[in-house]
Amino acid sequence: MFLLFLKGMSQKSFVSVLVLVFSYVVIVLSTPPEDPIKCSSSNNTTCTITNSYGMFPDRTICQASQALYPTNEKELVSMVASASRAKTKIKVATRYSHSIPKLVCPEDSNGILISTRYLNKVVKIDVVEKTITVESGVTLKDLIDEASKNGLVLPYTPYWYGLTIGGLMGTGAHGSTLWNKGSAVHDYVVELRIVRASGSDEDGYAKVEILNENNDEDFNAAKVSLGVLGVISQVTLKLEPMFKRSITYLAKNDSDLGSEVVSFGHEHEFADITWYPSQMKTIYRFDARVPLNTSGNGLYDFLPFRPTSSLLLAGIRTQEDRDESTGDADGKCGLAKLTTNALITSAYGLTNNGIIFTGYPVIGFQNRLQSSGSCLDSLHNAKITVCAWDSRIKGEFFHQTTFRISLSLVKSFIEDIQKLVELEPKGLCGIEQYNGILMRYVKASSAYLGSQEDAVDFDFTYYRSKDPMMPRVYEDIIEEIEQIGIFKYGGLPHWGKNRNLAFEGVYKKYKNVGKFLKVKEKYDSQGLFSSTWTDKMLGIKEGVEILKNGCGLEGLCVCSQDSHCNPSKGYFCRHGRVYKEARVCSHV
Ligand SMILES: Cc1cc2nc3c(=O)[nH]c(=O)nc-3n(C[C@H](O)[C@H](O)[C@H](O)COP(=O)(O)OP(=O)(O)OC[C@H]3O[C@@H](n4cnc5c(N)ncnc54)[C@H](O)[C@@H]3O)c2cc1C
Ligand SMILES: *[C@@H]1O[C@H](CO)[C@@H](O)[C@H](O)[C@H]1NC(C)=O
Ligand SMILES: *[C@@H]1O[C@H](CO)[C@@H](O)[C@H](O)[C@H]1NC(C)=O
Ligand SMILES: *[C@@H]1O[C@H](CO)[C@@H](O)[C@H](O)[C@H]1NC(C)=O
Ligand SMILES: *[C@@H]1O[C@H](CO)[C@@H](O)[C@H](O)[C@H]1NC(C)=O
Repeated sequence: MFLLFLKGMSQKSFVSVLVLVFSYVVIVLSTPPEDPIKCSSSNNTTCTITNSYGMFPDRTICQASQALYPTNEKELVSMVASASRAKTKIKVATRYSHSIPKLVCPEDSNGILISTRYLNKVVKIDVVEKTITVESGVTLKDLIDEASKNGLVLPYTPYWYGLTIGGLMGTGAHGSTLWNKGSAVHDYVVELRIVRASGSDEDGYAKVEILNENNDEDFNAAKVSLGVLGVISQVTLKLEPMFKRSITYLAKNDSDLGSEVVSFGHEHEFADITWYPSQMKTIYRFDARVPLNTSGNGLYDFLPFRPTSSLLLAGIRTQEDRDESTGDADGKCGLAKLTTNALITSAYGLTNNGIIFTGYPVIGFQNRLQSSGSCLDSLHNAKITVCAWDSRIKGEFFHQTTFRISLSLVKSFIEDIQKLVELEPKGLCGIEQYNGILMRYVKASSAYLGSQEDAVDFDFTYYRSKDPMMPRVYEDIIEEIEQIGIFKYGGLPHWGKNRNLAFEGVYKKYKNVGKFLKVKEKYDSQGLFSSTWTDKMLGIKEGVEILKNGCGLEGLCVCSQDSHCNPSKGYFCRHGRVYKEARVCSHV
């Protein structure tokens, strides 16, 4: 019904409906995301955990014997001590658990989860030193709000404020800049407190370490730790006085993207680029500081992070499933164009005054522009509107491939993608349905598991079928790009996103992984905070790939035989077209 209605509409009216639906829903209360931890008894024992998408890359469910909810550091210490005494595996879970890979799984069902849900208090704001100290479960949203009440801001942050401080440090999350210390939040941490297990009675089986520049090695390890050193209890961040920004999105064709990308990043403090390769279009974000007395009270409430109508999501998903199963690339390209146009017309959710968009530039305070996520803020339970990826409704379900390519190689990487588009002009419409390729700048970090070089981070989001054996339209093109990025150009996968194959040999890409492992040995010699997955990430164990029928389709492996694809649907393991070394599932 709904789809017939969509199909009968002209493109222009579809765009206005989308804009209407997007803006209308602000008024309706949204349903908050589900708790990723579910326990079968009232005392929080016999639990399972997934991520905010309700699905790990390998589609398994993680188990834990118990979930604990400390409310302060003292309780946290005693919980870690009991687990350490009993030699129980421990994993830190957060309020929403946004990471895609299985970082949060304790090794086996005897392991426990320590949730930072109630470690959510701001401890101290020092206006003179310009620092804020928060417990590790504080969300980015709460941190931004509290800091700004005191006239202070974090200069660079992820674009989604539902992350916790502990969680975003765990995976090295970032925004976009090549200026100052770069865009990763962990590079603005000046001190942290971490509770680690100790195998010995002398320490009472747990110990609080206070780390800052004075404990250089430990600090560099703890800034990005994948959660394997212990539980971060508190974090102190360096802030800046409040400032204002001026944002303008400008569309251009993508013919000179490769030669523009580096200089654009150096020239504009908060620059990023959204790229729609099949439409040959780029949207450059011109974004810079302006004097505080410049007028404007803009707000960035990014459309894809707003509460979205479940009905609309179901309609779009049905259409997507249909285009995928009939192999209708034109249908996908059509829907991609509509979505792109709707987003561009509505300035991606920017408004000049918090209500309407009247034109560029949008000028406003940093705290209102740096990050968003209004689909989280709600009370209501009817699921009329939700975050678009909420697994309780029929909505978005996708893979996310994210890696960073060194500035010196980024031009060649972009040109390789352009060659693929030349061969298959409709090949990347699927990515454009999920708002194209987001390109953000990151700088080399002192964190051992942080960025190794100044680089551009590429974010690709694309359809995932509920059926693991179901190939995608232009399956091979996206797989080839993934392998070009990760293997040909040695791209570093984001620790909190990606499919298994992206982590093949990842530890070899970090020159200080040895130093990290030394600190890990010192902090947790029993490996209580480690799992098979984190051991594989760090090169302690081999083999991130899972070989089985269809593993190539799910990104669990690089295919090496046809059964890794799906011959019964006409998909066979073949060489790449631009990068011959790639092995991809191609429709033959
Ligand atoms: C809609 C959306 C938008 C996103 N946008 C961005 C973005 O703009 N930039 C970006 O870089 N990433 C982004 N991400 C990815 C995200 O940043 C990472 O996945 C992030 O690590 C998730 O944070 P979390 O608080 O949910 O932590 P989790 O995913 O729950 O945890 C991440 C890791 O940290 C560990 N950990 C958590 N807390 C602690 C603690 N207190 N002590 C020790 N270890 C701990 C966990 O055990 C786990 O290993 C986005 C994700 C989503 C869903
Ligand atoms: C939790 O409850 C179950 C029964 O529901 C009981 O068997 C178990 O001992 C309890 N565990 C704790 C830690 O209290
Ligand atoms: C049990 O879990 C809930 C969250 O699901 C939490 O609010 C509550 O504090 C937990 N109870 C205990 C005793 O830890
Ligand atoms: C892209 O834009 C440039 C000018 O910015 C123009 O010279 C060029 O012809 C355009 N390319 C295409 C393919 O439209
Ligand atoms: C902003 O303040 C500066 C001095 O600090 C002044 O020169 C300038 O004219 C002011 N601009 C506006 C728009 O008020």
